[in-house]
Amino acid sequence: MSLTPIGEPRHKNTTATIREKKFRHDPITCLTAYDYATARLLDEAGIDIVLVGDSLAMTMLGYENTLSVTVDEMLHHVKAVRRGVKDALLIADMPYGSYQADPTEAVHNAARFVKEGGAEVVKMEGGEKRVDVIRRVIDAEIPVAGHIGLTPQSIHIMGGYKVQGKTLNAVEQLMRDAVALDRAGVACIYVEGVPREVATMITAEVEAPTIGIGAGPDCDGQVLVFHDLVNLTFGHPAKFVRRYGDAAALIAQSVLAFKADVVSHQFPNDTESYHLPKETLAALETVLHRKQAMRR
Ligand code: KIV
Repeated sequence: MSLTPIGEPRHKNTTATIREKKFRHDPITCLTAYDYATARLLDEAGIDIVLVGDSLAMTMLGYENTLSVTVDEMLHHVKAVRRGVKDALLIADMPYGSYQADPTEAVHNAARFVKEGGAEVVKMEGGEKRVDVIRRVIDAEIPVAGHIGLTPQSIHIMGGYKVQGKTLNAVEQLMRDAVALDRAGVACIYVEGVPREVATMITAEVEAPTIGIGAGPDCDGQVLVFHDLVNLTFGHPAKFVRRYGDAAALIAQSVLAFKADVVSHQFPNDTESYHLPKETLAALETVLHRKQAMRR
């Protein structure tokens, strides 16, 4: 079964096609995926970008924040997603600590996401202060996605997950960050947790497509964490989340129904069971009769 709407042509999304979309004012769609099945469903639905976000630290691995997830843990998920994605552009998050300390190490880690994981773009958080390392990675032929505003890897510096860019100074810094990333040649810029007005100004200022999350409707594209979209996150959703489905309810209902059927001997039934071929059954019955007769 294909989920692609009838009449919508399939094509491979690349950093170039995403950029063209900005110039056509054609909204870019992006969702996170961390496993083969979800990646396949998103790809077949025609989502433009599949992001293996380090949000998997919480959604998949149950960590408190994104800081603990390692390159090896991320790679495990990137490889699974790679096997499910054909047409979407595949972006992988560089986890905290894998690019901040040393540009050479950053290039080495980014190359692992490309060579071992099959990622087409790597994403790094930070603006002006990250430009040197981003340039080094791009110089190594690896496209980079920027990420500014509420950058979850800076949770302790920000003092929590707080909307950024609320003062004039902060707005000016965000503009400098966006322009610096654009000049460095990033493939796109994720803009998270900033006032709508700021995201609108950034989007108008830079050539790179902006992908917003909690940044209002005027970015070139929108991203949501898949687990937020389908209610698999167990907490109160952030203001910007729109729930499009209730997977938690569906899973809970299915699990409870399975449990009830097993406990009441309703599952599996005969049609859900394998049966011996007739000849084997007849031969088995003969053997059993003979054994019974010998015992008498
Ligand atoms: O890790 C993630 O899922 C992200 C998106 C929210 C942009 O960085």
